[in-house]
Amino acid sequence: MIFKGRDIISMNDLSRDEIDYILARVPAIQNHPDKSSLCRNKVSAMLFFEPSTRTRTSFEVAMRNLGGEIGGFYDANITSTVKDESLWDTVKMHDGYGFDIIVIRHHLKGAARVAAEAADAPVINAGDGPNQHPTQTLLDLYSIRETQGRLDGLCVAMVGDLVNGRTVHSLTEALLKYQDCRLIFISPRDLAMPRALVDKCARASQKRGISFIEARRIEDHIADVDILYMTRIQMERLQERALAEKFRSIYRLEAGMLNKVRPNMKIMHPLPRVTEIAQDVDETPYAYYFQQARNGLLVRETLLALILGAIT
Ligand code: CP
Repeated sequence: MIFKGRDIISMNDLSRDEIDYILARVPAIQNHPDKSSLCRNKVSAMLFFEPSTRTRTSFEVAMRNLGGEIGGFYDANITSTVKDESLWDTVKMHDGYGFDIIVIRHHLKGAARVAAEAADAPVINAGDGPNQHPTQTLLDLYSIRETQGRLDGLCVAMVGDLVNGRTVHSLTEALLKYQDCRLIFISPRDLAMPRALVDKCARASQKRGISFIEARRIEDHIADVDILYMTRIQMERLQERALAEKFRSIYRLEAGMLNKVRPNMKIMHPLPRVTEIAQDVDETPYAYYFQQARNGLLVRETLLALILGAIT
């Protein structure tokens, strides 16, 4: 399987075999004797038009751990974007300066795809508006498999702002490639999973034994799930502040709600968390979100090494 030079824009672009291959290559990076020189003389452009803690930092550390370097920007307000330079031209310029790979986060759906068309260098989508966040999904899948030992036949509940949450869109797209998964989409009606994705689930149910339901309350389903994937309300993507505050108060997972869960159930969250997971959950054996985020470093190192041709 060849990943060298490849764009990673959407989970739709990856087959199940390709996803499994990327995850299977993680130990090769973890145990590589020359890890710190695998990407020597390679430079990654970090084009971050939206804030980030985990994605930005883990890509940065990953590149440095492989012996590479980074450039670019984390605040578009200090670039010529403020002089109305287009996304296309901004990407073209970075591509022209000889970066080996471009990692882009942008507030607009489709921005990463535009970047991939503008650049000769491979482009990784680090989140495009409410659309997709494929590298988050790769680390989510790695974490799910690490805790459950498999990706087929799992019951996964996704909770929160399912209309604006790019991580749940990417994760759903990915899980539809596996067999016999049961998906439970828990959200207020106004923040439900986009219809196009629900329709896709319905089509997959005939092919791969996928089942799914849309639901409103965590308590009605928590005993049945292997993975409880919590997400925050995406305040920055909701127009009405008062409504957003109301949505924020609907879901709050507390340790007292975990009495009847499956022994190996794990709570995941792409982070940042706001109010949707109480701190007392952190001390339970079900909390996995901080380890999940740490796994992002290894998975992103692996992806960079594959795309830059340092490993095959
Ligand atoms: N999960 C995630 O994308 O976090 P950041 O926004 O902090 O990068």
